[in-house]
Amino acid sequence: MASRKRKQNTAPTSIVEPSSSPPKENKNTQTQTQTQQHHHKPNNTVDQPIAPPKWGLILKLSLFSIPPYLYLLFFHYPIEQELRRSILINAAMSLAGFFVTVRMIPVASRYVLKRNLFGYDINKKGTPLGNVKVPESLGIVVGIVFLVVAILFQYFNFTEDSNWLVEYNAALACICFMMLLGFVDDVLDVPWRVKLLLPSIAALPLLMAYAGHTTIVIPKPLVPHIGIEILDLGWVYKLYMGLLAVFCTNSINIHAGINGLEVGQTVVIASAIVIHNIMQIGASTDPEYKQAHAFSVYLAQPLLSTSLALLSYNWYPSSVFVGDTYTYFAGMTMAVIGILGHFSETLLLFFLPQVLNFLWSLPQLSGYIPCPRHRLPRFDPQTGLLTGTNDGTLVNLFLRLLGRKSEKALCIYLLGFQAIACCFCFMLRHFLAGWYK
Ligand code: UD1
Ligand code: MG
Repeated sequence: MASRKRKQNTAPTSIVEPSSSPPKENKNTQTQTQTQQHHHKPNNTVDQPIAPPKWGLILKLSLFSIPPYLYLLFFHYPIEQELRRSILINAAMSLAGFFVTVRMIPVASRYVLKRNLFGYDINKKGTPLGNVKVPESLGIVVGIVFLVVAILFQYFNFTEDSNWLVEYNAALACICFMMLLGFVDDVLDVPWRVKLLLPSIAALPLLMAYAGHTTIVIPKPLVPHIGIEILDLGWVYKLYMGLLAVFCTNSINIHAGINGLEVGQTVVIASAIVIHNIMQIGASTDPEYKQAHAFSVYLAQPLLSTSLALLSYNWYPSSVFVGDTYTYFAGMTMAVIGILGHFSETLLLFFLPQVLNFLWSLPQLSGYIPCPRHRLPRFDPQTGLLTGTNDGTLVNLFLRLLGRKSEKALCIYLLGFQAIACCFCFMLRHFLAGWYK
């Protein structure tokens, strides 16, 4: 275990008890139906506890994913003892994070409801479930537990002279800053164009602290044309990092609106990231390269486990909503993982559905076509099915191509597509290895 030379001047964090402050009016995140706003005291808050976590789903996912994970880590690749130990400690801490998150979400739900932070489930409008106040912004629990795990984990890994320590902490600062801005957005309902820019502010800690290389390897087929193998981008590289953060956060946030989709896509991508990292660690002999991928595992595992905990409540029918706190947090975490793990191209391939959704959304995002507050499908309370609208989202496109679907089925299709995109990326990497880079 590495000891730390740095001074331990960490200030104790103080937690403000929300119920002890005078009652304030909070803006509701749900702007479509405004009738429920401006409660004086939360006397009409539904105080029923939220539905229990969907353990069956988590069990299925774990049974499906843990055996291949252990196989890759223990048998398939000869990974050094030391590195394997760090990864396993991180996995154990992530597991603890999972249980803490599952435990804390119902508690936090009570508090956010008390402060009128809730939304109505738009895709259930016209049914009894459509009138339930669903607690919003539960991503805050995930974010806090994630940060605690990621901060504590440093104790088990980095040595005192590690350069990684600086960048690791800068990455955590970005994630924390993004969470704050996401929460601000949930509470204040920031205008759309401002929203787009928030991640570029949150990415500043990493952009300023980043001292790694700013070079890119030119793809082999292009080398004869360009004449060099490695190109130093200098400050343009930092610009690219900033743009990646803006893209990852917003693209997750706008591929949303169906129960389980926000968290589900993160779970799929984070799983792909962990698999990719272990494969790269196993196949490489370069210590720096391995370290970069190990760094990524240390952030992706807690992201995966805490997100799974949230998914157990957010899966159809959602008993909590994740809020922009979560979408921004998850997007930023994956962006810093891609940047510091030096695999942002692969990351963008994992993000293929998000890229398509973003491109498909461009006419509305740019204002060329009017963009309503919610670009969701049309729900028919009689049949319980969703129909695609003309709004430019992948959700609507899927419905128009595949026909009317229930919300749950649609989400499974979209997550299936996400998984196919990740498999496609692995295949592409496999076939292009050696030829492309
Ligand atoms: C983004 C999308 C918007 C989409 C919304 C849904 C763009 C430009 N913006 O906006 O089209 O409608 O996400 O998250 O593409 N909700 C549900 N069911 C869910 C999840 C959310 O009904 O499964 C509703 C709830 O009322 C919830 C609200 O969406 O309160 C949250 O919306 P918010 O995250 O604030 O929307 P944006 O991120 O601004
Ligand atoms: Mg959102």
